[in-house]
Amino acid sequence: MCGIVGYIGGQQAAPLLLEGLTRLEHRGYDSAGVAVIGGSGVKVAKQAGRVRDLTDHLPRRFAGKVGIGHTRWATHGPANDVNAHPHTDTDGRVAVVHNGIIDNAAALRKRLADDGVQLVSDTDTEVVAHLVAASVAETLEGRVRDALAAIDGTYGIAVVHADFPDRIVVARNGSPLIVGVGDKEMFVASDLAAIVRHTTTVAHLDDGELATITATGFTTFREDLTATGKQAITLDVDPASYDAALPDQWGHASFMHKEMLEQPEAAERVLRGRLDERFGTAHLGGLNMDARETRAIRRVKILGCGSAYYVGQMGASLIEELARIPADAEAASEFRYRDPVIEPDTLYVAVSQSGETIDTLLAVQEVRRKGGRVIGLVNVVGSAIARECDGGIYLHAGPEVAVASTKALTNMFVGFALLALQLGRVRDLSIADGRRLVAGLQELPGQIAQILAQEEDLAEIATGLAEAESLFFVGRVRGFPVAREGAQKFKEISYRHAEAYQTSELKHGPLALISPDVPTVAVVPHDELIDRNVGALHEITARRGPLVVVTHDDVDLGDVVATRIDVPRNERELDPILLTLPLQLLAYHAARHLGHDIDKPRNLAKSVTVE
Ligand code: AGP
Repeated sequence: MCGIVGYIGGQQAAPLLLEGLTRLEHRGYDSAGVAVIGGSGVKVAKQAGRVRDLTDHLPRRFAGKVGIGHTRWATHGPANDVNAHPHTDTDGRVAVVHNGIIDNAAALRKRLADDGVQLVSDTDTEVVAHLVAASVAETLEGRVRDALAAIDGTYGIAVVHADFPDRIVVARNGSPLIVGVGDKEMFVASDLAAIVRHTTTVAHLDDGELATITATGFTTFREDLTATGKQAITLDVDPASYDAALPDQWGHASFMHKEMLEQPEAAERVLRGRLDERFGTAHLGGLNMDARETRAIRRVKILGCGSAYYVGQMGASLIEELARIPADAEAASEFRYRDPVIEPDTLYVAVSQSGETIDTLLAVQEVRRKGGRVIGLVNVVGSAIARECDGGIYLHAGPEVAVASTKALTNMFVGFALLALQLGRVRDLSIADGRRLVAGLQELPGQIAQILAQEEDLAEIATGLAEAESLFFVGRVRGFPVAREGAQKFKEISYRHAEAYQTSELKHGPLALISPDVPTVAVVPHDELIDRNVGALHEITARRGPLVVVTHDDVDLGDVVATRIDVPRNERELDPILLTLPLQLLAYHAARHLGHDIDKPRNLAKSVTVE
């Protein structure tokens, strides 16, 4: 989704802005632009297409040591040159970049038009530039404040003004913004990736906070202009891990492929230092809960979106099984709209790769507003969700670029297993079971590598599945969230209609659709439901439905006619993640077979930062 970068200091801004925008490309965008303040005022270059196109067409005279840049994901108006950010006022003295959505844009556009302002774009953002220009406050801070006072909605914005060439003023409400501190130079970004090569010392703005950034420092304040005195902190992240994710430094056909193959090491990282073999438990220092508080938990509610929601369902099963605490997962995008009852003895768990997904962030805020305790399972260090939570588990998957989440999802599962283990061991989970799970978790990275080694065979199976216009993914109990995630991946990148169903529900309706043209991918863990699962497979083959079964090598499918995909067995509670991995590769190879751009699936962005 939209990305922001800003620079002020001793260097030419444009190359730094363009480099920062390149590092935000993975978020998904359809146009890009930059503005700098030079000797003759504000200069803007923007156009639909890639950052590369913008770089190639940048005017030769584009000097300026202060500037802002943006990658746009169209919300108001199509992706074209005019709608690209930055937007300016009529005189071209103010330039604004904006992430988020201004809810009252239509009313503001009308008001401006009635006042004689000629709006040139279809965007909500343009109104901000005109509102800043219309303010008569003496300072740029005052003018931005006046503009924001008229706005309802979400924003991360950065504003430059030809009359105030020594500063950038930024503001945040619901859309992430960080200020980066360099050596006599300062940065702004919506995502650390944009500036990590220059600094890891950053200040995260909170909602309702603004900042003035000059070449030598920054100050933060609220909309009433009272200071908030925010200090920068140095993040414990490795800038090189972001470099490794740059397109020119990888040797894979796509980021998704690279990230799938990184899963064994990623899983090792999330486990590192967190397993206790002696006591058969996990140590998760970041939860900020003592044993008494942990024992007091009566219910767990997991909140996430898309794949994070599905892995949340896997996490809920783990928590119920190991800790015997009632647990369920809910789509964070729906949660706040039903005015949820927040219970004091419920532990809320937000799960997110990016830590920026607005629906998940707003769900967290809803819980906290009503006095609930939320912990986060988050990959991006220092992200909005991570900061909003009372504690949490960082996933250490490393930067994930592909829209289709793979390694972060695997580490979410492992994170839930660690959480379930720790919760279980302060309750009734025996030390023997604890040790059994610890040993199982230690085995996971190696088993993940074994599954990835089957890629060639999986690619062949995927080629067959890709031919179908429509597919079912089925599973039950532990296998159902696996089926949901498998269908999600398949739809996301192959654009085939893939529907997930509980195997047990097939006979209540969807069997009517089973035919030789509609294949089913069935997830069959080796658990207490094995006989029932195998029975249901007969119902599919009896209707001549092509069948692919993802199961374990010691499972006897009897006379079921199916293509088998076997994964190693672990402890039954941990099997869901092993059963998930082949589904990633099936989706990936189906999409490749169909010739799709896997890292940039149509209509999707990496981080969904608008409602
Ligand atoms: C995963 O493949 C999807 N792209 C998507 O469902 C994603 O998991 C969801 O948007 C949540 O993202 P988050 O983990 O960054 O919050």
